[in-house]
Amino acid sequence: MKQVLVLGGSGFLGGHVCEKLVRAGYQVSVATRKAVHARAVMHLPGLTVLECNIHDEAALGRAMVGMDAVINLVAILHGSPAAFTHVHQDLPEKIAKACLAQHVQHLVHLSALGVQSHRPEAAPSHYLRSKGLGEALLADTLGLGARPSAHPSCGLTLLRPSVIFGVNDKFLNVFARLQAVFPVMPLACAQARFQPVWVEDVASAVLKSLAQGLAQAPSLRVYELAGPHVYTLRQLVQFAARCSGINHGRGRPVLGLPLWVGRLQVMALKLMPGEPLMSADNLASMQTDNVVQGEYPGLATLGIQASALEAIGPQYLGSQAATKGLLGLRHRHR
Ligand SMILES: NC(=O)c1ccc[n+]([C@@H]2O[C@H](COP(=O)([O-])OP(=O)(O)OC[C@H]3O[C@@H](n4cnc5c(N)ncnc54)[C@H](OP(=O)(O)O)[C@@H]3O)[C@@H](O)[C@H]2O)c1
Repeated sequence: MKQVLVLGGSGFLGGHVCEKLVRAGYQVSVATRKAVHARAVMHLPGLTVLECNIHDEAALGRAMVGMDAVINLVAILHGSPAAFTHVHQDLPEKIAKACLAQHVQHLVHLSALGVQSHRPEAAPSHYLRSKGLGEALLADTLGLGARPSAHPSCGLTLLRPSVIFGVNDKFLNVFARLQAVFPVMPLACAQARFQPVWVEDVASAVLKSLAQGLAQAPSLRVYELAGPHVYTLRQLVQFAARCSGINHGRGRPVLGLPLWVGRLQVMALKLMPGEPLMSADNLASMQTDNVVQGEYPGLATLGIQASALEAIGPQYLGSQAATKGLLGLRHRHR
């Protein structure tokens, strides 16, 4: 039985990935900062939860002993520039070094659509820059980058999803709940374009690329993961409201804001307790389209037919989004 360590397995995507891994017969361990964070997955048959500080190289190395593969789902959406560097660059480099030291065969790493492969530092936000630089550090450390090693020992799959939707997503649910509370929906970057992808399709891509990586000689593979259709942010906000039955299915009037007003809005949101709903860095990320570039293969190459938002969204947005208000949203994840 193949042993897999999942970093960030307690999160939104992590739950789906862990469930599929267990069903597929892998022996799964989830490393988490606090065991209670992994409560959604800890009862999956045979799954082990390891409470450890993965930023500590010795602890990370111990967590990887005996592992055939590692899946890295750790990321942050908000934080200081130093925090983005710490989580999206320093950590992947430590993970790659530990994979080499522990003879791990394959690493699957979740990145994001919008990173710039050839000039990662040119991306518009701290999030995208650090994600792109993290990809490069992983490839270089594993000897799969610009100066390839003659005999790499650990393969690497980089998966770049667009925004991910599904039960408990932090995207469409946020817009539904905001509209449940406010009579109008002020929206910066209303014309930003996304190609949302279903969480189950992304989890399937993780499993397929893992199996492929374990079966083949170590190499670097990159996939862009996106749904079948492109939408503007305005369309997605309206879709979330329609599915949630807000204002009798009509949703709220969406008031497009210029970027500078959007920045004032995020400053106000920052004053609310808990994790911000939107940050200036999120607005910066939306300055570039979150749609496939076509430079790399996608879900179809992995044998996955992408599900449409229209088929899945109404199933979960209708049942939960409008009912809990803003506080439900902000306290839901922990
Ligand atoms: N969700 C999306 O729409 C989307 C879109 C594009 C790309 N992605 C990528 O897909 C991956 C999974 O996303 P997700 O939405 O499932 O994320 P998530 O729900 O926020 O989960 C991320 C996990 O990372 C761990 N984590 C967070 N901060 C950490 C820190 N400072 N140190 C160590 N661990 C930390 C947490 O685990 P513990 O609390 O258990 O330690 C958490 O469960 C990420 O790489 C993300 O960038 C997601």
